[in-house]
Amino acid sequence: MSTCITLTVDLGERSYPILIGAGLLKTPGLLVPYISGSQVLVVTNETIAPLYLEQLTAALPAHQVDTVILPDGEKYKNLDTLNLIFDRLLEQRHNRTTTLIALGGGVVGDMTGFAAACYQRGVNFIQVPTTLLAQVDSSVGGKTAVNHPKGKNMIGAFYQPQCVIADTTTLDTLPDREYRSGLAEVVKYGLIADADFFNWLELNADALMARQPEALATAVRRSCENKARIVSQDEREGGIRAILNLGHSFGHAIETAQSYCDWLHGEAVAAGMVMAAELSRLLGWLSLADRQRIERLLAKCQLPTWAPDNIDAKTFIALMAVDKKVLDGTLRLVLLKSLGHAVVTSDFDTDCLSRLLSSKE
Ligand code: NAD
Ligand code: GLY
Repeated sequence: MSTCITLTVDLGERSYPILIGAGLLKTPGLLVPYISGSQVLVVTNETIAPLYLEQLTAALPAHQVDTVILPDGEKYKNLDTLNLIFDRLLEQRHNRTTTLIALGGGVVGDMTGFAAACYQRGVNFIQVPTTLLAQVDSSVGGKTAVNHPKGKNMIGAFYQPQCVIADTTTLDTLPDREYRSGLAEVVKYGLIADADFFNWLELNADALMARQPEALATAVRRSCENKARIVSQDEREGGIRAILNLGHSFGHAIETAQSYCDWLHGEAVAAGMVMAAELSRLLGWLSLADRQRIERLLAKCQLPTWAPDNIDAKTFIALMAVDKKVLDGTLRLVLLKSLGHAVVTSDFDTDCLSRLLSSKE
């Protein structure tokens, strides 16, 4: 195993470590201190199980280890699939001291966390994220959920894990498109809160695209540092945490318009971040040069930099109106005051927004 970096999400009695390193899953005993009882249920899916399940369970010889293998895909992130987790827990007589382990990307992580929040009114769980998006974003911060036919992530809970174990070696098997989608969330941290990291990303974009291990380890660490700091300040998104949604209002509208079929989440977020940057420029906050830097970096990561042509402004506005950040009917957006400084605001000219949504860049 190479170096293991440990960060902390500082939430008082709910604090927990994030361990980041190559080959962590093969480290004997790494998971054991975070498991209090004798029972474990590993939740994973049909794609990840053949790749990493055996490695994980081999590290838990002294436990009753059960597994549940879910179907793969966002379309299965629902209450029916959640029930498969509860079925297995009850069939195998798991008690209140059991620990659930989420082995997978954001879909498995969000569902396992929500199952842990609900089973017998709350049991422990551990995040073992295996996508870049999950390692830099979804496994940290305790947002857990399933989708409802009428809205994404609408049924869920804030529920923190005991620890996050991000083995960067697992990213070796991640398809390129999924990897690039995760890079969008990495770039997000530079834009919202860490201008130095943005500069570093510009210099290291080629190394990241080549999945160079040191560059990747730095990107995961720096992203998690930013996320941990923001979540520690605002666990339940009463304020600052909302900046983590830069580009998401535009991005969710793109995903919904395409019925979650065409673009991956990170791809839609990438386009949404350029749109948010352009609106910030139109408002006189961001310089043209900085807005172009953002677009160039995302293009270098082979991510889309604007919404597809077939979504008109009216559809966009209608879809953005159901965003979770809408308060009392007022649309709030995450915009950039400058590179590395995001704000959540409703203080923008709606004509400006309409002009932006009508332009095809
Ligand atoms: P995902 O979980 O669907 O994983 C993407 C694909 O990669 C899947 O087919 C999966 O089986 C496969 N895969 C995972 N790890 C692999 C590996 N190591 N090798 C090969 N294939 C692998 O998607 P995602 O992008 O990880 O997560 C998206 C989900 O995360 C969405 O549901 C979104 O709502 C949620 N999310 C949650 C938060 C949060 O804070 N909780 C934040 C962002 C996103
Ligand atoms: N991904 C947004 C958040 O965790 O708040």
